[in-house]
Amino acid sequence: MGLWGVDTWHLEFDTYGEVKMTDWLEIEKKYFMRTFEKARVPVVLVRGKGARAWDDKGKEYLDFVGGWAVNCLGHSHPVVVKALHDQAKKLIHTSNQFYTVPQLQLAELLVKNSCLHRVFFGNSGLEANEGAVKLARRYGKLKLNGAYEIITAIGSFHGRSLAMTAATGQESFQLPYVPLPPGFVNAKYNDIAAIQNATTEKTCAVMLELIEAESGVIVPDADYIKKVRQWCDSRSILLILDEIQTGVGRLGKLFGYQLYDVEPDIMTLAKGLAGGVPIGAFLAKESASVFAPGDHGGTFGGNPLACAVGYAVMKYIIANDTAGNAARVGQYLVEKLEMLRKKHPFITDVRGRGLLLAIEFNSEIGQPVLMACLENGLLVNKVKPNAIRLMPPLIIGNKEADEAIDILDRVFSRVTK
Ligand SMILES: Cc1ncc(COP(=O)(O)O)c(C=O)c1O
Repeated sequence: MGLWGVDTWHLEFDTYGEVKMTDWLEIEKKYFMRTFEKARVPVVLVRGKGARAWDDKGKEYLDFVGGWAVNCLGHSHPVVVKALHDQAKKLIHTSNQFYTVPQLQLAELLVKNSCLHRVFFGNSGLEANEGAVKLARRYGKLKLNGAYEIITAIGSFHGRSLAMTAATGQESFQLPYVPLPPGFVNAKYNDIAAIQNATTEKTCAVMLELIEAESGVIVPDADYIKKVRQWCDSRSILLILDEIQTGVGRLGKLFGYQLYDVEPDIMTLAKGLAGGVPIGAFLAKESASVFAPGDHGGTFGGNPLACAVGYAVMKYIIANDTAGNAARVGQYLVEKLEMLRKKHPFITDVRGRGLLLAIEFNSEIGQPVLMACLENGLLVNKVKPNAIRLMPPLIIGNKEADEAIDILDRVFSRVTK
């Protein structure tokens, strides 16, 4: 018996005192639900710093997965570590029966830097979206004669609860769980007529991603979101923007809606908001903030630890124009990726905004490309069988971009052979 009375026969420790893998993959296979089997690659990450991560064998990687667009300041950023440390020493959790300072500081900071007026905190993206949908339904009940339906887009991704599975316009997520909660209509993305045709007297809101990130970084036409906003206004229904992946600087603006010259009635955030500490939030215009006392709640949401980190991360991003950096480095990356596209004709598309980018191929080589990147020290995400996605920390510079491009070039040169 070893550490904490736990049998540690299978543990070794590296020079940093980190647990070293002996057979973690076997342990996962034996004890863990099989849900991540398709997503996982055979790497056990044990340490990270900035845009770099190390596995249990000491191999270094340039991390362009970024915790699925969460680690906006990279791994173990001093601002995140300090906020966690300082707040953990003071107060970790209290419940929402009491006021706590970090929650209110973060709420004020978000409101002062966005077009929204009120905030509710949860712990994840799906929770933020659930809250947003509940708020829209409440609005429908109070202001739209009981309208309750939400129009979402085919190809969207909004989370894994039953309601968010119904909202997510992808059959592969939905079919294993039917019957799903009613009240969601999936309409074609990037097609204003599809939304118009789906709108009835039962509709209370349209909920959209600015870019369909999980579907392969699908970027709609420049005027699509604006047209949806105008349609929602003409029908007095709400526009909910799911900015869980696109918010917090990812697209090169603090919030993605700022790129499209529209304002949502409700916006949801999560992922990068606390730089890796679980948090979610939905924000609403005053006119849409119709919750009455007791209408919504939660035990952990808005706890001081997560909110202190969120406050520190958001302050850092705003003060250092981290979103501007994402725009500049993202543009630089796109230019370099376009050069790779000319060199390797099997690349059919390079797309995205800021530091949410995808490279699409003319065949289903996403997995071999991912594995070759891994071998060469670059972490990427296979977003579709024929596409990889890049979501590096927003603090990277051209140096890291060049390094990733070099590795991708090497990998693509091998693929063509
Ligand atoms: C746009 C969008 N909405 C919602 C979610 C769900 O967030 P979570 O996994 O934190 O529940 C995700 C996660 O990838 C997302 O990308």
